[in-house]
Amino acid sequence: MDTIHIQGKIALQGKVRIQGSKNASLPILAATLLTGDNSVIRNCPRIADVYSMVSLLKSLGCGVHWQENGIVIDSSSVRKCEMAEEAVTGMRSSLCLLGALIGRCGEVVMEHPGGCVIGARPIDMHLSALEQMGVGFTEKDGRLRAEASGLHGAVICLPFPSVGATENVILAGVMAEGDTVLEGAALEPEVLALCRYLRCCGAVIEQNAKGRLVIRGGRRLRGCEFNVPADRIVAGTYLFGCIGIGGSVLLEEAPREEMGAVIEAAKQMGGQVCCSPEGIYVQAPMRPNPVQLETAPYPGFPTDLQSVALAVETLGNGCSCIKETIFENRFRIVEDLEKMNAKIRIGDSRSVCVQGVEALHGAEVCARELRGGAALVVAGLMAEGETVVKGCQYIYRGYENIGRDFRELGARVASV
Ligand code: EPZ
Repeated sequence: MDTIHIQGKIALQGKVRIQGSKNASLPILAATLLTGDNSVIRNCPRIADVYSMVSLLKSLGCGVHWQENGIVIDSSSVRKCEMAEEAVTGMRSSLCLLGALIGRCGEVVMEHPGGCVIGARPIDMHLSALEQMGVGFTEKDGRLRAEASGLHGAVICLPFPSVGATENVILAGVMAEGDTVLEGAALEPEVLALCRYLRCCGAVIEQNAKGRLVIRGGRRLRGCEFNVPADRIVAGTYLFGCIGIGGSVLLEEAPREEMGAVIEAAKQMGGQVCCSPEGIYVQAPMRPNPVQLETAPYPGFPTDLQSVALAVETLGNGCSCIKETIFENRFRIVEDLEKMNAKIRIGDSRSVCVQGVEALHGAEVCARELRGGAALVVAGLMAEGETVVKGCQYIYRGYENIGRDFRELGARVASV
């Protein structure tokens, strides 16, 4: 099922439940290694990246099984600290196992995770921070070996609020001897969810609003039961989908308190957005207003919704400018959108201007990465005629079933 067929120009109506957060689930599943105990992680999304993480945990010796709507992990018998090559190079988020395995085993052998379509995605900040905590790294034939005979706390300052580097420092820090002060930490909701899980296991992690974390090390952690929050990026994808094609939808369980910048952008586009304990209700006109958007670390506009916003503004009632400040190559869908009659001018590699057109035309397009693929599905909803999106295996890395969800909102979408 790696192709999605969409018959466009049908306004969305109805309600859809938002799945659990991919980017919260993955580091929390890695963190279960630190307890040597049983944990139950509920509301994990049934997506390819979670399945890959589960396989990785099993390969390390954990007992893992799915139950009703969660995953049970027994990390009492982690027997090795080496990760299979295909597991790491195929999924960058396995990088959060680096900090967890250093914390649990004191050593790790893994493939260098490498880059992907959206950027080179170096790991210099991860390595530099962990080295300050006593971790020694060597690299041979593309494999990274980390060893930490005496993992200790440190005062670390990140040059950029890297989500992954922050998570690795937290995962190693809770097991280190002494305290770790992390300045310039990422404060994305997914990082804070990881901190909540670890506190539930007995860790002491203090934070202030300016990106300063104090991780108290050396405590014995025990397993716990934890609910993963809803996925703010999936919620934002469907929110902008409604803005793009028009209609009125309820996004059940959407994490509205984590979506301030997204909701603000949706309102600027002309959507009427109301938040309630049920979730986010949005009513949208047939044609979005143009906007000026710039991605930024949380609480700024999330880079993971930049492609979807770009797709929506191809039908905007004017010219929109979008600036991507996080990744260096996140406009790959421009060529596919232009196949659909979009009018987009790329400035430098970090900014584009979109001149809204009267109509998008259905076409055969190809997903190259997760969020760009979701954006092409949204463009298909907005286009006249049929759009065929190939390469949807990328989309299933982060969305349980984007076709099913849009069908629940009245769209004519078939996954084949
Ligand atoms: C996380 O990736 C997310 N992935 C990404 O979501 C998200 O786009 C990104 O954070 C930014 O919010 C997961 O949580 C699994 P970063 P991560 O480290 O941790 C540079 C999705 O679609 N950098 O905050 O890899 C890096 O190249 C994915 O769900 C260094 O230079 O992102 C990038 O330009 C895509 N050196 C910027 O920082 C480093 O050591 C932000 O990266 C680390 C990062």
